[in-house]
Amino acid sequence: MVLSGKRILLIISGGIAAYKSLDLIRRLRERGAEVRPVMTRAAQEFVTPLAVGALSASHVYVDLFSREDEQDVGHIRLARDCDLILVAPATADLMAKMAHGLADDLASAVLLATNRPVLLAPAMNPQMWANPATRRNRATLEADGRHFIGPMAGEMAESGEAGIGRMAEPLEIVSAVITILDPAPKPLAGRTAIVTSGPTHEPIDPVRYIANRSSGRQGHAIAAALAKLGADVTLVSGPVTIPDPQGVTTVHVERAEEMRDAVVSRLPADIAVMVAAVADWRVASSADQKIKKQPGEAPPPLQLTENPDILKTVGHHEQRPKIVVGFAAETQNVEANGRAKLERKGADLIVANDVSPETGIMGGTRNSVRIISHQGVEAWPDLDKDEVATRLALLIADKLAEETAP
Ligand code: C5P
Repeated sequence: MVLSGKRILLIISGGIAAYKSLDLIRRLRERGAEVRPVMTRAAQEFVTPLAVGALSASHVYVDLFSREDEQDVGHIRLARDCDLILVAPATADLMAKMAHGLADDLASAVLLATNRPVLLAPAMNPQMWANPATRRNRATLEADGRHFIGPMAGEMAESGEAGIGRMAEPLEIVSAVITILDPAPKPLAGRTAIVTSGPTHEPIDPVRYIANRSSGRQGHAIAAALAKLGADVTLVSGPVTIPDPQGVTTVHVERAEEMRDAVVSRLPADIAVMVAAVADWRVASSADQKIKKQPGEAPPPLQLTENPDILKTVGHHEQRPKIVVGFAAETQNVEANGRAKLERKGADLIVANDVSPETGIMGGTRNSVRIISHQGVEAWPDLDKDEVATRLALLIADKLAEETAP
């Protein structure tokens, strides 16, 4: 497991996002990390030391002046006896204390005494985050070498207010922890992946084509996220306006048939993630020359024929990758259609989303997905497409590790 043997000192400070720290503890431990929690007084108003202790299977340190806590390890050892200190959530108040070197409780004393890397996951009201004082403190802490993950844009749990201030999701935080502890984390090292992305263009004649609104953002982000985890990634991209992702071999195609050929020719692979919005139909016989408009003549009929289903081809291929992931862009019955697709296409996971125009997902930067597998359905919150990609890449790495476990 990627975090086996790693000791994380988790400082939970007092904000509503503290409830997410419970999930964070679980996510860290399931990757092999040992989690030792410290809670501020305010944090205990949001989650109980009992819950934190049970999930971490550790003593919970709460008090600088407790003889029991001090006799157990003492704040200096607590500060040093770990591979990384993670502050999640990090409140504006704790950031201010850190920036100024204050140490009037256990959390701030540990942070002042440590010589370990420190990662902060701030969470606060957007106004507090935007306040010049917080901005100064952040700049000071960054100059001091402290790492940050988030905060993210989104709705605040307590007020429903929108803006930047939401704590990063637990899996993003885990991914940041992995990156800091091992700048070259390679849970997918030695694995090969094929990703499709973008739309396809199906020619009517040399200048006209049938297309769709796919931007390629989600597929490109997934290719980049898999590469970051060490996979050798080939991205087969339809025509898009966004740049090729770094660290990935990108093959550019136009038509569904070209995309199918590019994908199949790169099998075998360990992972296939088919994100492209492949056109279901193409023009049966596209014209070699531009079709001329003739005055007084009726518009030419367009005879369509079915395109190859690339996901289905890969899902049933004799060189089927170990993990096959498809997407299901639906405007109704998202879950039922997703489940049906899982079976029909021979996929292990279907990432289902509602692409009704009012969601703004198609062509937008955010995504709200449900992960459908043979084990059940998991709904993810509304996330940036990069965050969806990071989570999906980690999920794929976990599944692949399970698949190939002795
Ligand atoms: O059937 P539908 O198009 O909704 O299925 C979506 C999934 O199948 C996506 O993962 C998409 O990339 C893939 N697909 C494909 N080839 C097609 C149509 C869809 O790979 N011709």
